[in-house]
Amino acid sequence: MPDQLSNEVLLQAVREYGTPLYLYHAEKIREQYEQLVSGFSILDTRFFYACKALTNISVLKYINSIGCNIDCSSINEVKLALHAGFEPDRILYTSNGIAFSEIEEAVAAGVHINIDSLSNLEKFGRKYGHSYPVGIRIRPNIMAGGNLKISTGHDASKFGIPVSQLSLIESLVKDTNLHIRTLHIHTGSDIKDPDVFVQGMEVLFELIPHFPELEVIDLGGGFKVPYRPGETATDIPLLAKKIKEAFEAHPIAGDKKFQIWFEPGKYLVSESGYLLAEVTVMKDTGNIEFAAVNSGLNHLIRPMMYDAYHHVLNLSNPDGTIKKYTVTGNICETDTFASDRDLPEIREGDILALCNAGAYGFEMSSNYNSRYKPAEVMVSNGKISLIRKRDNFEDLLRNQL
Ligand code: LLP
Repeated sequence: MPDQLSNEVLLQAVREYGTPLYLYHAEKIREQYEQLVSGFSILDTRFFYACKALTNISVLKYINSIGCNIDCSSINEVKLALHAGFEPDRILYTSNGIAFSEIEEAVAAGVHINIDSLSNLEKFGRKYGHSYPVGIRIRPNIMAGGNLKISTGHDASKFGIPVSQLSLIESLVKDTNLHIRTLHIHTGSDIKDPDVFVQGMEVLFELIPHFPELEVIDLGGGFKVPYRPGETATDIPLLAKKIKEAFEAHPIAGDKKFQIWFEPGKYLVSESGYLLAEVTVMKDTGNIEFAAVNSGLNHLIRPMMYDAYHHVLNLSNPDGTIKKYTVTGNICETDTFASDRDLPEIREGDILALCNAGAYGFEMSSNYNSRYKPAEVMVSNGKISLIRKRDNFEDLLRNQL
């Protein structure tokens, strides 16, 4: 939520490229990455950007250029990462529910792999035996994350192999001579409390003695970023301190040297992004004043999907009298962006910005109602560059016979 870019830069982008428009601020991404690196300097860590948050190829290239590694959730994301110039050793593929053929492709590409089912682990062992070090995604049975839809480590979650199935994992590893290099967990998204990560580690600590070739503990992503005014992010230096202490205090883990991996998505790109839209219709219904913009849940689904709060700015009338508005889209379905929100007076033609739109914004967008996906621009050193053209009518017909 904290703004970094001036209204003037945002409005300049709108003048040049129109609306609706996704805008990403490169220096904010770098600032977030640097906070992680400095916050975790007391530990041996590697960061892999969870690119499911935003895969625009220019953003991937930028993230590569600042030295961050990349985490992928599909083989196509792996291919995009390679295309963006990441070397295989800097790519991690954390799969779930996928055909084994995708894992074979990932092996051929030479990337790091975390496997999240006994079924694929067995196929992996039978085909590669000890030759290809691999990670196992464990379900630690911990409830964490901003809401149930983004909680992934609890005891009813599809993700990972339940920690209770350790003996099955062990016999598979033995039978097929697997080389287990990594233990992985990802308990959810929007996790503020550092103790949740420590709790996850406590679960992994119990497993460490069972995997003598272990080198990496991968604690996934999920760091919280502020969305509402006054909210704060996960305290990264405190988290690092707690993780270090937990390792040192543990009788077995403390004697071994593990590298800690993280897979941040939101932390790196959420705050860097804005969805810029124009107010098309004002509608005063007596009890509610609606401001409809030329966007909707087809472009930013988070408010409707997770009841997520996205801060709204009226860029073209920032000093207007504060009134209450409900900001909606133009989709033929309820697509409220903000309810009953105090905002400077909104008039038709005003430009609104939806903040925190960098993560899971464009990436989860669609052509619902046969509307075009927005263009995307990146601002770097004050320069605005187009990084994806707006859809056009041919795009709607592409691939249709
Ligand atoms: N690693 C794994 C294995 C994941 O499944 C995820 C996110 C991440 C890392 C990155 O989590 P982050 O740091 O971004 O919280 N669309 C939802 C979030 C879904 C997250 C899915 N997995 C939202 O907009 O809130």
